[in-house]
Amino acid sequence: MCGIVGYIGPRDATPVLLNGLKRLEYRGYDSAGVAVLTDGHIEVRRTAGKLSRLVELVDQTPLSGSPGIGHTRWATHGVPTARNAHPHLSANARVVVVHNGIVENFLELRDELTAEGVIFQSDTDTETIVQLVEKHQAAGLDLVEAARQTFQTIQGAHGIVLMSADEPDKIVCARIGNAGGVVIGLGQGENFIASDIPAIMEHTQQVIFLESHQMAIVTSSHVQIETMAGKSIQPKIHTISFDAAAAEKGEYQHFMQKEIHEQVRSLTDTLAGRVDFQAGRIRLPELKLTTELAQKIRKIYITACGTAAYAGMVGKILIEKIVRLPCELEIASEFRYSDPIVDENCVVLAISQSGETADTLAAMEEGRRKGAAIWSIVNAIGSQAMRVAQGSLSMQTGPEIGVASTKAFTAPLVDLYMLAVLLADLRGNLPDADRRALVSDLRLVPQLASRVLNTEPEIKKVARALKNVRDCLFLGRGINMPIAYEGALKLKEISYIHAEGYPAGEMKHGPIALIDRHMPVVCIAPQDPWHEKMLSQIQQVKARGGTVIAVATEGDELVASLADHVLWVPKCPWMLSPVVTVIPLQLMAYNIATLRGLDVDQPRNLAKSVTVE
Ligand code: F6R
Repeated sequence: MCGIVGYIGPRDATPVLLNGLKRLEYRGYDSAGVAVLTDGHIEVRRTAGKLSRLVELVDQTPLSGSPGIGHTRWATHGVPTARNAHPHLSANARVVVVHNGIVENFLELRDELTAEGVIFQSDTDTETIVQLVEKHQAAGLDLVEAARQTFQTIQGAHGIVLMSADEPDKIVCARIGNAGGVVIGLGQGENFIASDIPAIMEHTQQVIFLESHQMAIVTSSHVQIETMAGKSIQPKIHTISFDAAAAEKGEYQHFMQKEIHEQVRSLTDTLAGRVDFQAGRIRLPELKLTTELAQKIRKIYITACGTAAYAGMVGKILIEKIVRLPCELEIASEFRYSDPIVDENCVVLAISQSGETADTLAAMEEGRRKGAAIWSIVNAIGSQAMRVAQGSLSMQTGPEIGVASTKAFTAPLVDLYMLAVLLADLRGNLPDADRRALVSDLRLVPQLASRVLNTEPEIKKVARALKNVRDCLFLGRGINMPIAYEGALKLKEISYIHAEGYPAGEMKHGPIALIDRHMPVVCIAPQDPWHEKMLSQIQQVKARGGTVIAVATEGDELVASLADHVLWVPKCPWMLSPVVTVIPLQLMAYNIATLRGLDVDQPRNLAKSVTVE
């Protein structure tokens, strides 16, 4: 989704902006632009397409100065052209804006402004913001007050950054609702603004996150945070521990490849400090889970979108099995419209890599409104989903840049397992020996992941065999059923091959009609409690001429004798098996997409952080 960068200070803003936008490329975009204050006026460069085109344009017609703002746009209103790309200038070219979100009342505002004689230069909703600011300035307000009036007029959720040639000493920004974050990076005699931390991580680790309905007046030496009503706020300054190097590709060809291979480290870090192997106990202090709360809970709703929701599906199985507590996985975009039966004896647990997914935040709000305790498992430090939760587990994965989520899928699987063990322990329904055995199994996880990663050369061969298929079916059962969904999602989103995940037992109720020699079927069949059922599923596919690609436990000769290709995984306790079975599917999707020559890190139409409903 759209990325924002801003800079104010003694340096030339242009390279800071272009570099920051580069680090936000992973969010997905279809046009880009920068605006810089130079010799008392605002210069803008904008292009459709990739950032490299903007860099070329800036090389051909350079601009330099400070302050400056930049943007990568993911089109909502108006096609992705240079004309519709941000930044947008006001009619007198003295004010300029970049924006994330949708101005919901833009048609009405645009009609009003047009009737007053304003001629719009773009088809975007964003332009109404800057035209309104100019209008208020013309009525005598300074930039801050003109911006404040404008922020109070526009409807919807927004992240907005503005600057004016008439007040060159400041940038004004605001966060309204959940259209993505606005983070202010604090430097020495300079300050930075961004929608996401990676954009400014190389410059500073001291940051302020704007909360909803706050605005900031940022100069090179000072940051003033206020409510929309003008009340001054003492902000909390966070120190971000992400190492800038973690956002680099290093030896890998793509971020996705790097992130898949980082899972040994991320899983090790997920356990670090949280598992006491000697005592056989789990410690998750960030969750603020007391014995009283643990015993009060009657039901847990896990809510999330996409890959995170599939992690949640595994979590439901783990919680119900280990804690014996009812648990539902609710797709976040449906949750608030389904009038869920939630009260103060429930927990709503959100899972989100970005922590800024609009639907997930809205589901959390629905839970809060109905009195539930709100927890989250989040990767992006300081994000909204982390801040609004009563207790939040931080995924220990570091920044995930590839649009297709990989390491931010396996980390929450382990978090959910640990949460289930802790919860059962606090509720007093986990016999000591069982608890110790469950905790002890966790020590195997990083090593198991490492063994699957080492099989990449074999997986590549399977990828070569499949690279030209048109469709692909993924089947799984029990705890590995969500892995069928996740495997299909990975394949379709980066290779554009039509792929469907299905509970294997449902195959005979419809999808079986599709099976012929052109339909490869990926059967996730490790040695878990559903193994025999999966064997009979594989036989049914073979009986109809389908090609079977099985994910199977090393040494499983029976599966090997039936399947056309086998993706081997090491023997693993079944409750942790999804961590292991998903990795070959991540690698298979990655290798198929690269063999097809596709842009793996930034697949078409997708955004890393989906901050609109
Ligand atoms: C798939 C993918 C998406 C996200 C979904 C939720 O690879 O990345 O399906 O999982 O958009 O995003 P977060 O986890 O940021 O809430």
